[in-house]
Formats: sequence, C-alpha cells, structure tokens
Amino acid sequence: MERLNKYLASTGAASRRSADKLISQGRVRVNGKTVTELGVSVNEKNDTVMVDDIIVRPVSDYSYLMFYKPKGCITTASDEKGRKTIYDYLSDLNIPHLISVGRLDYDTEGMLLLTNDGELAHKLTHPSFEVPKTYSVKVKGEMPEHKLAQLRKGVLVDGELTKRCKVKLLEYKDGESKLNITITEGKNRQVRKMFEAVEREVIFLKRIAVGELRLGGLSRGGYRYLNEDEIYYLKRI
Ligand code: URA
Repeated sequence: MERLNKYLASTGAASRRSADKLISQGRVRVNGKTVTELGVSVNEKNDTVMVDDIIVRPVSDYSYLMFYKPKGCITTASDEKGRKTIYDYLSDLNIPHLISVGRLDYDTEGMLLLTNDGELAHKLTHPSFEVPKTYSVKVKGEMPEHKLAQLRKGVLVDGELTKRCKVKLLEYKDGESKLNITITEGKNRQVRKMFEAVEREVIFLKRIAVGELRLGGLSRGGYRYLNEDEIYYLKRI
C-alpha cells in the first residue's frame, strides 16, 4: 500500500504538494469513487486511480521517447507500398505497443513523441488538445508582409479557416525564405497547405518544438528518453 499523494506524484500527474490539492478539489477517484480526504492509501497493483477521468499509473511502468524523424519515412507501423517506417529506426528498443503522438508526413522531419502510455497518447492526439507546435520552414520565393499577415490571421485549408498562429520571417537568401511557424492545430499536411494558400511551395519542413519540449541536439533518426520533468509537463498540459 502507498499513500495516495505519493502514488499521484509517482505518476507525474502532480508534485507531492499539488497532489494534496488535487485530492481536496475532488479531482481524484480511486476505483471509481471520488476521494477527498487526505491520507488515503492505495494498492498500486489492484487499485485504479483516475485524475479528471484519466487513469494514471507510475511513470516507471511506461516509456516516453523523443524521436527525430528523418524525412523519407512514414509514421505508421506498416506501409502497403513497402516504404520505410519510423519503427525501422526504433526496432532495437524492443518496447511493445510504442505509439506515436500524432504524425509527421513522409517528407517532413523533426520531433515525434512516442509512448506506450495509451492514456497520455490519447490525450495528446485529441483535436481539443491545442499545444503549440513549432516548425522550421523553407519556401521558394519571398514572403512579403501581407502574406505573413494572411498566415497569422488564418487561411483556407480544406475549406476551413486556420486558427491564429505565429509566423516569424528569419531570412531571405538565394531565392528562398526561411521562417518559423507555430500552430495549435494538426490538420493533415497543415503547414504545407497553409503556404500553398499564400502561393508558396514548402521545400523544407522540420518540427522543432512541441509545447515546451525542443528537439535540441538530437540527430536525424536518433532518440532519447524524456526526463521526469518533461513527462510531468506533458501530463499537466
Ligand atoms: N504540417 C505539414 O504540412 N506536415 C507535417 O508533417 C506536419 C505539419
């Protein structure tokens, strides 16, 4: 048996101190029953603990990875066309049921998060989850101010207006513009289609950040385990 607040801290759902607050606020259920008294103990093997309707388990039960997807591979387990998949890069890890949180298309590179924690993966891929994702983009041609303003305000993608986003022009060199764009949605090929809407072709696309998590110095095809702070951050957002 383990104290409920300690158990909650071990899941990354809260720090030890904020766990007591979650309990007092009536946001924690044990085996379906809301628990508001502090000092309750749980059996980590047999009891099901939920915070805000999400089952939480000790972080050590699961694996959380950041992977630098190279371009030229797909984000699914198998492909009818026999193309390379992200799992070809991760096969020696031998982690069962590792799923990617969202997708990057074949020609896009950059940060993918992977986990076998189904609850967290589900939460992070849900359309209502609007964590900002930042991409480094190169397009052919210049990006005048009015096109930047259009992108920021919203453009039509698949018949729908995109949400407000951040766009920063970094440089224009040798006929190409380099930008960073931060969007909170994840429509299929969204960034490419947004630039298409302002008549610009994307020639390079790389996801460099998801929320506060940054790709940093990972090399293409490389991966690393997330640390406890990063897992705690993902669970909290
Ligand atoms: N936008 C795209 O166009 N492609 C991706 O893979 C991700 C965002």
